[in-house]
Amino acid sequence: MAGRIPQGFIDELLMRADIVDVIDARVPLTKAGKDYKARCPFHDEKTPSFTVSADKQFYHCFGCGAHGSAIGFLMEYEHMSFPEAVEELAGRIGLPVPREVHEAEAPRQVDQDLVTILEQADRYYRRQLREHPSAQRAVDYLKRRGLSGEIAARFGLGYAPEGWDNLLRALGRDEATRNALLRAGLIAKKASGHYDRFRHRIVFPIHDYRGRIVGFGGRALDDAEPKYLNSPETPLFHKGREMYGLYLAREAIRREQRVLVVEGYMDVVALAQFGVEFAVATLGTATTRDHLHRLFRFTSDVVFCFDGDRAGREAAWRALETALPTLQDGRQVSFLFVPEGEDPDSLVRKEGREAFLVRQEGAVPLPDFLFETVKKRADLSRLDGRARMAELVGPLLSKLPHSVLRQIMLERLAAMSGLSPEKLSALVLKSETPERTPRVGTAARKPTSVALLKKPYSPVRNAIALLLHHPRLAARVTEVGDLAALHLPGIPILLELLDVLKMHPDLTTGAIIERFRESEHGPALEKLLERTHPMLETEVAVNIEAEFDGSLDRLRQEVHAQRTDALLGKEQAEGLNETERAELSKLLAKKANLDEFGPET
Ligand code: GTP
Ligand code: MN
Repeated sequence: MAGRIPQGFIDELLMRADIVDVIDARVPLTKAGKDYKARCPFHDEKTPSFTVSADKQFYHCFGCGAHGSAIGFLMEYEHMSFPEAVEELAGRIGLPVPREVHEAEAPRQVDQDLVTILEQADRYYRRQLREHPSAQRAVDYLKRRGLSGEIAARFGLGYAPEGWDNLLRALGRDEATRNALLRAGLIAKKASGHYDRFRHRIVFPIHDYRGRIVGFGGRALDDAEPKYLNSPETPLFHKGREMYGLYLAREAIRREQRVLVVEGYMDVVALAQFGVEFAVATLGTATTRDHLHRLFRFTSDVVFCFDGDRAGREAAWRALETALPTLQDGRQVSFLFVPEGEDPDSLVRKEGREAFLVRQEGAVPLPDFLFETVKKRADLSRLDGRARMAELVGPLLSKLPHSVLRQIMLERLAAMSGLSPEKLSALVLKSETPERTPRVGTAARKPTSVALLKKPYSPVRNAIALLLHHPRLAARVTEVGDLAALHLPGIPILLELLDVLKMHPDLTTGAIIERFRESEHGPALEKLLERTHPMLETEVAVNIEAEFDGSLDRLRQEVHAQRTDALLGKEQAEGLNETERAELSKLLAKKANLDEFGPET
């Protein structure tokens, strides 16, 4: 495997390969003030809300929340992997991409240990499937399920042998690796010591969308419980974000311009064996909006496959509700129900690829599934039944982005319920909640954007967001002091951000994001950036320094408050010593002072 690309090179690359050129070559940009604008390439819109900032080397869509550096743009727009995007940028300006030779030397992000141990475990499990004395039972199992050796190899299937500590003994040589195994969820801890999580199971490695192993699923060979066991959530592995098989399927998804979402590991593998290569599976959880956002980056056509029984239909309904807010024009979701007692695995084996594809072509479009389901709960031959239908459907339609689809569904609802489209429109708008639906820049969306602006940010979030967009603010923090003691969500991110910026004060927003790409704090930063920060829209008018200082002051007050509480608690419980008593009275005096003269909160 090629060595890591040094972070310093990425910083430099982002400085030299201007994001404006990179994007303009693919999505023609128009100058608007000191930034550039275009209609967003990641969602449909009529007026441009996609903004590119040369200063920040950062793009951001106020409509759908898409954002990132030049590297991130290539990854999303061209579906490149991270190294591919780096190569592409470096190629443009004629720089060779250096690779680190000694991985261990670099002061690695926390996650590198996890990445390494997961790769080692993967190699270990695969070797056991070939070599372990009891592997024959695993091989027999796979054969019995009709898997070819070739497909097992393609999906990297492995075997976790019987016994409590095979993996532990093979990989857990020292404290550090045992610690990594533990954090990766590959071993667990009991009073009596550590033991392997996966025992006597077929192991499915789970890759993230760019091919890194982030976790495993394990299938019991017999009727041991549970039938499937997954890695627990770790900094690298989030079931609500990852999908099984996505990395292997990505070429096929792009080629076929559709993706099939099934329920089981075995379904994905069997479908691929029979030439249906564009299937992925959720990891034993419901589909999330993150899943859908990721899939829609590859294709605009998502087909969910569920059992035809009641549980399957209920799961489909939940998927429908999750999908509604993501359905910008041009995207479609449909539902394929397999006959009771079957699943895609059994079906494709029984009927073959062609028949399966015919079924898939006949998947029920989301609007049809929605109306069919609701019709069962409202008697349309009666007046109150029709009103009930409107009541049921209204809130669902309100979740859709303002789009042609929404209009079409409203009209269909009007036809079915006998209520006028105007009346229905009012009903839908009434139930519209200002949650994060992708905004299209029409007048009708204004209320949502105002609501977003008004949402109060916690001082931690505020400080982080300001730092991201104005990295030079970091210089105002001469010492972090007791902020580190603060028990609040986001504090570790804030501290890490300040730390990075202390060392590299010239990083742009884009470069900061790249630094955090692999950090455990990456996802949290992503979330934050996806939301429009109020400062971005009004930043000319706002005193950014004052805003930042204010947030930090609020945090320092919080430090004092937490310390005061701790001391008061201790005073009650066991009494205070001399120093502590002095500290407490000082804190209380300060607080009284602040209450009287301090800033309004
Ligand atoms: P086979 O029985 O091996 O064909 O698997 P399947 O994929 O048909 O399994 P099933 O339909 O029972 O389950 C679908 C998916 O749900 C699996 O792939 C797992 O991700 C998940 N799942 C099933 N059983 C369990 C369980 O006992 N525990 C957990 N955590 N997940 C499960
Ligand atoms: Mn099955």
